[in-house]
Amino acid sequence: MRLSPVASFLLRTHRIYRTSGSLSCKKRVRHEPVFLKNNFSVSAVTDSTALLYRNHGEPSKVVQLETLDLPHIGSDCVLVKMLAVPINPSDLNMVQGTYAILPSLPAVGGNEGVCQVMEVGDKVKTLKVGDWVIPRDAGLGTWRTAAVLKADDLVALPKDIPLLSAATLGVNPCTAFRMLSDFEELKPGDTVIQNAANSGVGQAVIQIAAAKGIHTINVVRDRPDLQQLSDRLKALGATHVFTEESLRRPEMKELFMSCPRPKLALNGVGGKSATELLRHLQSEGTMVTYGGMAKLPVTVPVGALIFKDVKIRGFWVTQWRRDNSHDEDSLRNMLDELCILIRAGKLSAPACIEVGLQDFQKALENAMKPYMSTKQVFVM
Ligand SMILES: NC(=O)c1ccc[n+]([C@@H]2O[C@H](COP(=O)([O-])OP(=O)(O)OC[C@H]3O[C@@H](n4cnc5c(N)ncnc54)[C@H](OP(=O)(O)O)[C@@H]3O)[C@@H](O)[C@H]2O)c1
Repeated sequence: MRLSPVASFLLRTHRIYRTSGSLSCKKRVRHEPVFLKNNFSVSAVTDSTALLYRNHGEPSKVVQLETLDLPHIGSDCVLVKMLAVPINPSDLNMVQGTYAILPSLPAVGGNEGVCQVMEVGDKVKTLKVGDWVIPRDAGLGTWRTAAVLKADDLVALPKDIPLLSAATLGVNPCTAFRMLSDFEELKPGDTVIQNAANSGVGQAVIQIAAAKGIHTINVVRDRPDLQQLSDRLKALGATHVFTEESLRRPEMKELFMSCPRPKLALNGVGGKSATELLRHLQSEGTMVTYGGMAKLPVTVPVGALIFKDVKIRGFWVTQWRRDNSHDEDSLRNMLDELCILIRAGKLSAPACIEVGLQDFQKALENAMKPYMSTKQVFVM
C-alpha cells in the first residue's frame, strides 16, 4: 500500500501507550483526520478520549474523561475507532468494584461495543481495514474513541446490520440465545417465563423466542406507563406481559388453561420475583439465573424441589465464551444466526438513547435509574 506523504508523516508520529494497567494520560483532546485510499484507510489517530476510573465507587463520581496516547500498533494488533458502545449493568458493577471480574486500576470502562478497524499490524490475517469488530471477551475497556487491541481479542461482524444492533449484539442477544438453546429442548408452542422482560436481555429473549414460535410470559415491574411498555414488548413478539404483582393473582391459573406452563424460567432479578417465576414453572422445568438486579438472593420453595423437581441453574456468557474459546465455530455460528434474525427484521436492538462521550455523567446516572427501559449508548 502506497501512502501519501502526509499520511506517512502522520503514521511516523504515532506515540506509545498501553491498553491496560498504567495509562499515560494528557489533558488535551486531539483527533487527527483519517485518510482513505483505495479501501485502505491510513489512520492518523494518535490518541484516544476515554472514560477512565482510578478507584472503584459511584460511576458518575469516579469515572473521568481523559486523553490517552495510543501505542505503536504491534504486528498482531489493530487500531480501532469505536463507533457505538453501550453502558450495561455489568460495566457499572465493574466500576463499583462488585463484579466477578475486575480489571486492574486505572481502567477504561465498558466491555461491549462495535468498532471499525483503521489499521492492521503486519501479521494480522483475520481482520482488514474497514471491518466492523466486537470484543470476543469481557474486559477490553470500550468506553473510548480509539484503541490498539490484539486482533485475536476481536471478532468481525457483517456491516449490513444497524449500528446499534452491532453495538449491543455481543452480550445480551448472545445471552438470550444461549439460555433459550442450552438448558431445555424448546419447540414451537412451548412457553418461557422471564422477569426483567424490558431489559436488553429480556427484549432479545422475546424476539428470539418469537422467531422460534416459542411463547413468552414476560414479567415487568409496575409503572405509570405500563400499558405503553406492554404494547412495546408485544410489538416485539411478547405473548403475555404481566406485572410482578399480577403474577401472584389466582387468575394466573386461567392463563395456563390456554397456554402450557413454562419449561424454562429466566431470572435476571432474584428475590421474590424469582420465587414467582418458580411458582409457575412446569414440573422438572429449569430456572436459569443470569442476573441479580434486585440484589436479593433466590429463594426456592421446598415444594418446587420436592414435588416439581425443578432444576436451578445459572448462566454467565463470559464463562460460555471462555469455555468455547477454542471452538471458533460456536461463536461464529451464533453471531451468524443472530445476524440472520436482525436482517429479517426479527431481532432489533433494545430501545437506546444515543449520547456523546462528553455527556458521560448524565448517561451513567441515567443507566442507574429504575424504569428507564432504554439503554444508554455512547455514539462516537
Ligand atoms: N449472566 C450473563 O451472562 C449476563 C449477560 C447479560 C446481562 N446480564 C445481567 O442481566 C441483567 C440485565 O442486563 P441488561 O443489560 O439486559 O439490563 P438493562 O437493559 O440495563 O435493564 C435493566 C433491567 O433490570 C430491571 N431492574 C433494575 N432494578 C431492578 C430491581 N430492583 N428489581 C427488578 N428489576 C430491576 C429493569 O427494570 P425497570 O425498568 O423496572 O427498572 C430492567 O428490566 C443484569 O443484571 C446484567 O448484569 C447477565
